[in-house]
Amino acid sequence: MARYESVLDTVGGTPLIRLTRAAAGLRPRIYVKPEWQNPGGSVKDRAALWMLRRAEADGSLRPGGTVVEVTSGNTGIGLALVAARLGYRTVVFTSSGTSREKRDQLAAYGAEVRLVDAFVPREHPDSMRSRGARFAAETPGAWFVDQYDNPANPAAHIATTGPEIWADTNGEVTHFVATVGTGGTISGTGRYLREASDGRVRVIGADPATSLYAGGDGSQKAVEGAGHVLHPDAAADVWPQALDTDVIDRFIAVHDQDAIDAVRRLARTEGILAGGSSGVALVAAFRVAEDLTEDDTVVVLLPDSGRAYLSTYFNDQWLCANGFRGPAPAEGPVVGDEACVARLVERDERPADAVRRLAAAGAADDDAVLVVYPRPRRLLAAHPSELLGWTTVGRLRAAPSVSDAVRPLGPRLGIGLPLSDPAVTGWTAADTEVAPVLDRGRVTATLSRRTLAGPPPTTQPPTASDGADVG
Ligand SMILES: Cc1ncc(COP(=O)(O)O)c(C=O)c1O
Repeated sequence: MARYESVLDTVGGTPLIRLTRAAAGLRPRIYVKPEWQNPGGSVKDRAALWMLRRAEADGSLRPGGTVVEVTSGNTGIGLALVAARLGYRTVVFTSSGTSREKRDQLAAYGAEVRLVDAFVPREHPDSMRSRGARFAAETPGAWFVDQYDNPANPAAHIATTGPEIWADTNGEVTHFVATVGTGGTISGTGRYLREASDGRVRVIGADPATSLYAGGDGSQKAVEGAGHVLHPDAAADVWPQALDTDVIDRFIAVHDQDAIDAVRRLARTEGILAGGSSGVALVAAFRVAEDLTEDDTVVVLLPDSGRAYLSTYFNDQWLCANGFRGPAPAEGPVVGDEACVARLVERDERPADAVRRLAAAGAADDDAVLVVYPRPRRLLAAHPSELLGWTTVGRLRAAPSVSDAVRPLGPRLGIGLPLSDPAVTGWTAADTEVAPVLDRGRVTATLSRRTLAGPPPTTQPPTASDGADVG
């Protein structure tokens, strides 16, 4: 066994593991790189160590200083452990969407965790980024890490991840597949592998279906870490400077449900427990592999472990509550049996136009209509984060603006949730007559509290891939 003088020396040096059962029927050799074998449990330990060491070297961070970052968890964990070892204070701004396990891990390293509403445009003074940057500017001795635009983030992968993959495959790697968040991993590793192979290695960006990197509509997704989303009210779409699109040959878009299915299967067929963004990478890698031969070697980077998602992707209740297909279908009547197809109105639409459009589509005056943020285009049905409330065609008729007609929504309900579930039976708030219904993480239908007692509606709910009814 190797012997180390500090936990910092254990960052990097993760192995490659060949997939056999999960990759059955595919011709190339497929290896995964389990980045949770880093001490903080993710690929981001590498960037965290590099960024912090660079800040020490250039004087941005001095003894007694404070490390400040905005993160969906893993970068904060990496920074927190490095900072703990080197004696710095760490303050992390993250969202309530970050898994409970990651927030608890941050606190365990002594980091201060500030929870911020993530669904705010980047330039807004209350956005995670604005809050983090402001806190750093106002705190003496603070250094704002800014992983999205920090060149030491991709540099960590040029120095470590790329050389490791090249050496461990004896230079035989032909394809490298990774997800893209800040872009640090794919840009640095991809650049190294491209250069080491004289341009032979193909670099594939695996992206959640709605992420803008692969041409999505920018709406939210279920998997944490990977992809690039845009708040509907954002002034501009700003891509990270850590991302070098020149090294990426192509992007492959992957649906949340497929990514979740992939990691669940990986755990059961290979004994490898990976997180949701790993599922995005795996699905993309398997798609790439379909067109390859026995001479090819595909390396898939798995950013973190499924242990951080035992309460989500590996939890049957969570899957059901969010409309994802779980392992066992429910017995008895479910929410989908009583739900109606979702009709949408965008917040900025003129009420008269909305009424005309909805009436032409067959909506009656007292039909429920979900009010959502505006988007130039919708690839899939709306994400629950885009819901502003509900209204009716009749109320829209009388309202000066859509916002004036909005009412609060009932609980979010998964399409396969039994009607006997406490989330349904416990739905009593008097002013919430309508609840949004989720199919595979998207809002495809509505459930009216009144219909629960009455006869079932005639309209069948659509599936997530049908998109939603917006004019
Ligand atoms: C779970 C997970 N997957 C993927 C990524 C993307 O990595 P990168 O920021 O290097 O593009 C991250 C980044 O934080 C992550 O936490």
